[in-house]
Amino acid sequence: MGIRFIGHKKKLVSDIVSIIDSTVEDGTQVGDFFTGTGSVAASLKNAGYSVVANDLLTHCCISARAQLRNPPQPEFEMLLEQVPAVQDAGNQFIQRSGYTQVLSYLNQLDGVEGFIYSTYSPGGTSNREEPRQYFTDENAKAIDACRQRIHRWHDQNYLSDDEHALLLYDLIRATNEVANTAGTYGAYLKSWYERAKEPLELTPAELPEGPLEHEIQQRDANELARETSLSAVYLDPPYTKRQYASYYHLPETIAKKENPSVSGKTGLPNWESKSSDYCHKRRASGQLDDLLSALDAEYVFLSYSDEGHITPDELNEILSEHGEVELHTFDHRRYKSNTEADSGDLTEALYVVQSTS
Ligand SMILES: C[S@@+](CC[C@H](N)C(=O)[O-])C[C@H]1O[C@@H](n2cnc3c(N)ncnc32)[C@H](O)[C@@H]1O
Repeated sequence: MGIRFIGHKKKLVSDIVSIIDSTVEDGTQVGDFFTGTGSVAASLKNAGYSVVANDLLTHCCISARAQLRNPPQPEFEMLLEQVPAVQDAGNQFIQRSGYTQVLSYLNQLDGVEGFIYSTYSPGGTSNREEPRQYFTDENAKAIDACRQRIHRWHDQNYLSDDEHALLLYDLIRATNEVANTAGTYGAYLKSWYERAKEPLELTPAELPEGPLEHEIQQRDANELARETSLSAVYLDPPYTKRQYASYYHLPETIAKKENPSVSGKTGLPNWESKSSDYCHKRRASGQLDDLLSALDAEYVFLSYSDEGHITPDELNEILSEHGEVELHTFDHRRYKSNTEADSGDLTEALYVVQSTS
């Protein structure tokens, strides 16, 4: 089934951005402090805004950077000049550009028995009582080859930070397509899912048009709020106990240059330093209240689900202490893994808070 990002706003993004657009002035710099896949940030870019995108996790910052700071057709001039073999790679994509030449080259690399192979594939973990099978041996080797090459090119200064982020974003998206899981990297499936047997293939991302001047931060949102002043901020904090750092540990590892030490049946790296208080039922409301107190913004746009840790009544109470509150609701299909029964629709709310101070 590939990987789905819990609480992503892909289906709601046009509604969210049109509400932001009808509220704030053109040209405003907008914060997206829990950027996740970067879908809202990308759509804000497309609407002409400059964005401050932030997340606790490296791979989320990589996704945001890739979409925000690259033009729709990046040329990779430096890399093509330094590594002529990239130009010679036969192009598997119809449209030939610097970008697709680089992806063709990566797609043709010979596999490498690196960290992903030796930690997450059956061949690499055959000495374990239960070998891990997140990826087929071939795909794990292909992921290693691409990951090593992309990071090496960056170390050699053949890629800018933004191009490096884009290639990692493409690798992570390709990896998500062939992951043998039920929807997150929390565990792998015992039998092989059909799509997991397909070969890994990096494909060009659809990058939004729009300005290229954006800021990427990797901070705790509450800390960032204490140091930032923006006229509008979009907030999409986690609302369940699912910790993103553990559910998405594999993209996090791919995005980083160093390999973590891992343990247990699923090969989980130590993720506790990236644990979020928003995922704790007893801490979530205090965290949100603290964030809103720290923020210096005329408008706050908050996405939250009616099944989240903070109940709608509690949320109204907290928000109305910080300004005038307006509520928009959407029906949104709940995230579910394919091992869960269908649990129906849930309502997602967008609260708009206009500061009265
Ligand atoms: C609901 S998701 C955001 C989804 C995003 N809007 C999208 O469309 O993909 C919540 C995000 O908040 C991040 N996060 C959790 N706690 C955080 C914190 N204290 N500071 C910054 N980011 C945090 C998680 O890593 C996750 O990416």
